[in-house]
Amino acid sequence: MTSLETTAAFILSKAKQPPKVAVVLGSGLGNLSSMMRVDCEIPYTEIPGFVSSTAVGHAGKLLLGDVSGIPCAVMSGRFHLYEGYSAAQVAYPIYALAKAGVEKLILTNAAGAVNTQFAPGDLMLIEDHINLMGVSPIVDEYCQQMGIRFVDMSKAYTPALLQKAAQVGREMGILLRRGVYTMFLGPQFETPAEIRMVRLLGGDAVGMSTVPETIAASHCRLQVLGISCMTNMAAGILDQSITHEEVLETGKRVEDKMMKLLHTLIPLL
Ligand code: HPA
Repeated sequence: MTSLETTAAFILSKAKQPPKVAVVLGSGLGNLSSMMRVDCEIPYTEIPGFVSSTAVGHAGKLLLGDVSGIPCAVMSGRFHLYEGYSAAQVAYPIYALAKAGVEKLILTNAAGAVNTQFAPGDLMLIEDHINLMGVSPIVDEYCQQMGIRFVDMSKAYTPALLQKAAQVGREMGILLRRGVYTMFLGPQFETPAEIRMVRLLGGDAVGMSTVPETIAASHCRLQVLGISCMTNMAAGILDQSITHEEVLETGKRVEDKMMKLLHTLIPLL
């Protein structure tokens, strides 16, 4: 099996400057032209240790470059448990980026809005999460070299990054909701009963990603900012079915707002 050192050394060999900030783009969010100056694009299939991205709406490449002079690595597309990968495989790129010297991680995703005050197209800063996938990346042997086993998750989403994002959102006139992200394994969307359960548990949004990466990031002491894009109202809220096309379409509609926010925010973090 490829070691994290090998993957990190490969990434650093392609980068003009070692990346300090990493961004993971969620479903439908792929157009970076307004966000970043790209020096190098590497398909995941060429990166030692990376599995390949099979999800529609996920490009499957790592972009190295900078945002207003801040060296960044952007994952355009991510890995999911619903693709059949283990939590450790899904989290592998996060550990590798940490090994390569990344200090801050911005995780974006598409999510269903459980909170009925929210609307499709809204962005939500993730304050905390509920892990309903039932597994952790830390159980894998390769992950155990990256930190202690019993990781504290009480501030998994770094409060200082959240405050900064909230301030930038206010200054830019971008409405940023706040809430709790709840992860199901998927790939099926939830039932209305599951969404009622999530609401009772205190969840504001549901999705099928982000939690394994956040656990890995806490494990290797990266600072994390999570931003969910509400692509649809969660199951049972409206009398209509949820489709992947709707998720991708709303993602595209919101992409510009997300990219402008990231472009302004990254140099200030
Ligand atoms: N549920 C789970 N994941 C999602 C949803 C949803 O409603 N929308 C976008 N990703």
